[in-house]
Amino acid sequence: MNLYKQAADLIKKKSNIVAFTGAGISVESGIPDFRSSGGLWERFDPNEYAEYSAFLKWPEKFWTMHSELSEMVLTAEPNPAHLALATLESMGKLTTVITQNIDFLHQRAGSSRVLELHGTGETASCLSCEKQYDRVTVEKIRETAHVPRCTVCDGLIKPNVVLFSELPPVDVFEEARRALLKADLVIIIGSSLSVYPAAALPSVVSFANTPLIIINEEPTSMDNYANVVIQGKAGEIFPRIINALNENSNFN
Ligand code: APR
Repeated sequence: MNLYKQAADLIKKKSNIVAFTGAGISVESGIPDFRSSGGLWERFDPNEYAEYSAFLKWPEKFWTMHSELSEMVLTAEPNPAHLALATLESMGKLTTVITQNIDFLHQRAGSSRVLELHGTGETASCLSCEKQYDRVTVEKIRETAHVPRCTVCDGLIKPNVVLFSELPPVDVFEEARRALLKADLVIIIGSSLSVYPAAALPSVVSFANTPLIIINEEPTSMDNYANVVIQGKAGEIFPRIINALNENSNFN
């Protein structure tokens, strides 16, 4: 039986699917991932541009990368892979999307329960007085200052994204771990599974004996646990599987 049919048959019987996504799911929306060739870390050294103590030392570097990335995020639209996950939720089959992404595309596609392991680019905080800002307000402040500072105390403003050597949101991680333990199927889409602790989360399937589907352009460390691995573009592969749920189409 071909891989698409195997994946569709697994999904057919499920009602508590949890998806785990990475930057690869947003590449077809025009947002580069991090580690593929041409990815973000080829152009910006994460130790200088996306690490917490480096942010405190050279905030202008982070904001230079942020300017380039936010251009792409603001013009990006959810692609068929994001939309297919929202469809699976509307069919009462998927309960949770756990994402490492900060691009808000799952929410814009219609997914209602999205656990953001690496925070969000939609809000920001002053690192001194903790005043909260929304993205639009920060962009307004940045019209006159490359490095935005707090309007109350002049402290450094930082988007609520998790930088390297920053503690990720423990409550979100715990909620994601519980969701994965209760899942009757896990689908991993577009992640190299190379950044911990996020990358450790999906391995709960191995001892919970949960069926696993992986859709990724390259092999991952979880492939040998998976029931189905389909290598290629998520925006092409995933919708084809979901369409198969609604009809008995033959896969060529
Ligand atoms: N369809 C499916 N998979 C894709 C596609 C696509 N169109 N394009 C790329 N991929 C795959 C790549 O082969 C790669 O394995 O998506 C994966 C993306 O891996 P990374 O770039 O490492 O992104 P991610 O796994 O999300 O990184 C995790 O690392 O730098 C941190 O905070 C950052 O959240 C990020 C974390």
